[in-house]
Amino acid sequence: HAAEKGGYEDFMIKEIHEQPKAIKDTMTSRLVAGQDIVLDKIHLTKEQLDNVDKIYIIGCGTAYHAGLVGKNIIEKLARIPVEVDIASEFRYRDPLITDRTLIIVISQSGETADTLAVLRDGKKKGARVVAITNVVGSSVSREADDVFYTWAGPEIAVASTKAYVTQLVALYILTLYLADLKGTLSKEEIEKIKTEMLTLPEKAETLLNNLETMQKFASKSYMEKDIFFLGRGLDYAVSLEGSLKLKEISYIHAEAYAGGELKHGPIALIEPGTVVIATLTQETLLDKMVSNIREVVTRGAKVLGIAFEGSTEIEKTCDYAIYIPRTMELLAPILSVIPHQLISYYVAKQKGCDVDKPRNLAKSVTVE
Ligand code: G6P
Repeated sequence: HAAEKGGYEDFMIKEIHEQPKAIKDTMTSRLVAGQDIVLDKIHLTKEQLDNVDKIYIIGCGTAYHAGLVGKNIIEKLARIPVEVDIASEFRYRDPLITDRTLIIVISQSGETADTLAVLRDGKKKGARVVAITNVVGSSVSREADDVFYTWAGPEIAVASTKAYVTQLVALYILTLYLADLKGTLSKEEIEKIKTEMLTLPEKAETLLNNLETMQKFASKSYMEKDIFFLGRGLDYAVSLEGSLKLKEISYIHAEAYAGGELKHGPIALIEPGTVVIATLTQETLLDKMVSNIREVVTRGAKVLGIAFEGSTEIEKTCDYAIYIPRTMELLAPILSVIPHQLISYYVAKQKGCDVDKPRNLAKSVTVE
């Protein structure tokens, strides 16, 4: 299979490096400068959208984490209330579904049993279902009312990387589409976000060419028993995904907390040498995150900070700093997740783990 890996050691690292292309392919023909967004498999009309009073975003694992970003941006830009839930929780909690509900299911494979069950049940109760999936002809793509294909290409490694990034891209495009239909954003505002999105493949590429700090951090941290992740807002959503990646492939106990929750429990676990990975891309939350970092540093934590280029003040508080190319804060997750993936990858490799096939995990969970 060496040939299939195209010169890379594993599928996971190959797929991480395919992300600039995957982001680009997912935008191509949908986001064109100066033109309205084109989504040829989404048939939702303005009248139908005006009738929607609630959106649920449903998925499992990484797809659920993409949904958390989706909630944040849909509420902010399209002004529709959104709830995100894990498919296996949602389906058994008798959720409030009516003909005014829009359900967005996210599934790389399009075959996850719980996610598919939510789709079927939702349709039965009169909801409209939009599927975001990577597999053409998959069960969710066939059964949903509307489909948004992520063009990540086949993802072989069990831990999702390029599929997650394209799920984010899909959610941003869908959000702009909804905001346009609803009239909550002007054409100029949409154009501005679109223009910035079109620069992301190149910025992702830049990130992938600067790996030293991540490798160095990994070589120092691979023996840890616990690693904590901290973030607020969109950075919290990315931290959850970062901690999932790390535990999946390196078997290190990893947990993500919202910065503001630190005082409500996790700080009790910080002792000299505890490793914390903090993400700080959200300007309005920056001071609060810096004070969270000070709180853990005071207790002896070793901190890796992930922030935008130019936020050099993080070097004063953090032991390691990873910089991501500047983009709109709103779009930060698409770039900031990449160092999280790479850190997990290098930590797992240092430990000698089989990154493509982590123990006990399957690529697709088609039975409950
Ligand atoms: C499994 C995979 C994960 C994935 C999840 C949901 O747990 O190992 O990588 O995020 O299923 O899969 P789906 O195909 O529905 O996105």
